[in-house]
Amino acid sequence: MEPTAQSLAQRDYFTDLSVLLDPYAYFRALAAQGPLTWLDHHGGILVVTGFDECVEVLRNHRDFSSVNCVVGAAYPLPFTPEGPDISDQIEAHRHQFPGHDLLVSFDDTRHTHMRALVNRLFTPTRLKANEDYMRTLARQMVDEAVAQGRCEMVNGIATPFVTMVIADLLGVPPEDRETFREVIDAAPPPGNMQAEEAPTQFSPLEFMAGYFARYLAERRAAPRQDILSELATATYPDGTLPEIEDLVKMATFMFGAGQDTSAKLLSNATRYIVDVPGLQETLRAEPKRIPALLEEVLRLEGSTKATFRLARRDTTIGGTPVKAGTRVLVALAAANRDPRRWENPDEFRLERPRILEHLAFGRGVHTCAGAPLARAEVRVILEEFLARTRHIDLDAQRHGPPGERRFAFEPSFIIRGLKELHVILETA
Ligand code: HEM
Repeated sequence: MEPTAQSLAQRDYFTDLSVLLDPYAYFRALAAQGPLTWLDHHGGILVVTGFDECVEVLRNHRDFSSVNCVVGAAYPLPFTPEGPDISDQIEAHRHQFPGHDLLVSFDDTRHTHMRALVNRLFTPTRLKANEDYMRTLARQMVDEAVAQGRCEMVNGIATPFVTMVIADLLGVPPEDRETFREVIDAAPPPGNMQAEEAPTQFSPLEFMAGYFARYLAERRAAPRQDILSELATATYPDGTLPEIEDLVKMATFMFGAGQDTSAKLLSNATRYIVDVPGLQETLRAEPKRIPALLEEVLRLEGSTKATFRLARRDTTIGGTPVKAGTRVLVALAAANRDPRRWENPDEFRLERPRILEHLAFGRGVHTCAGAPLARAEVRVILEEFLARTRHIDLDAQRHGPPGERRFAFEPSFIIRGLKELHVILETA
């Protein structure tokens, strides 16, 4: 029996498997109660599902801290909030929030400084060189897949592809790239609630940190003509030199932030390409429409379902008072289907007015630093797939026939994406 909207809305976003696997009906049920709703679980979490309200929270970095952004809003505060401004309490306890040392959870000056360093990686010249690398790698991988007549998109293509692209962007020496890929392949995606079922003996980020510490220390002592040397010798906007340890965390975070997200975008996009009637023919004839496809897929099935904030001052969202200490779930997936903002929001449309306003990459000072890279890498590999095939289909034995497809999604409270996608490729 189908659950009622009311019973759906009472489920726990963080632990209910049906919601982890498919958040859309759940977010719709919450949104039916208004753009802000309270989740009673975990001592009370404010869920923001409205488009305008999500934008308001993301842009209000004065009143909302990102300290809980990696660990999630269900994580209990390690202190009891006192008074209308808990900024000092957050700073005193920041180290107790898992993920507090990653750029995305920094606030204020520390964030501005590190973000300025990250932005140096994404200069037009650097992105151009990286795109040349993407093209070569994409051709090689797509040629192999087409020769076999089939491939598994998520682990067989997307994950290794995006890992190698970030390794190139950061200047990881070619001889170490394969090791990086193996380590990342072995780990579950962030926010995975079934991670205990697939234990890994090591954290891939810690493993990679050892390599980056060595690269950066070597280059700080003896700079070369490469991006790692540029990072090792770069200074903060105030002229001070960053600690090697902070650079290492930034570099390893780029792998974490850019890997599952982009890999899931490629597989989510492929699903639409195959199942929306006539779409692959249109894109083959007009590959310049691939970017429009990607934006619509990011809106409908963005790889980041939600992000999290902690109110550090008494404030408001959409005029509703919010107390300092409130843990907030910013439901990006809900905002991107808010009917007040998008006409027929659940429908796929290749050309939507003002599509670039979707929130798949967030908004405000923490807007995804890798968005240009994500867009480029998925576009490039899709161009190659479409150019080298006459037809792409899903493997009906694995996913069922059209109209009755079966997909397995990651049980993550952050990532929206397929566990695997088996496709059949007909050579052009
Ligand atoms: C489809 C792919 C991607 C999606 C959907 C995505 C989504 C996001 C979102 C929603 C945020 C903001 C989180 C917040 O405000 O709390 C973010 C931040 C970030 N992303 Fe991405 N991302 C993607 C790919 C990438 C890639 C490829 C990289 C790097 C190579 C990357 C690096 C980052 C970084 C460094 C931040 C933190 C920015 C900051 O705090 O200033 N992302 N991403």
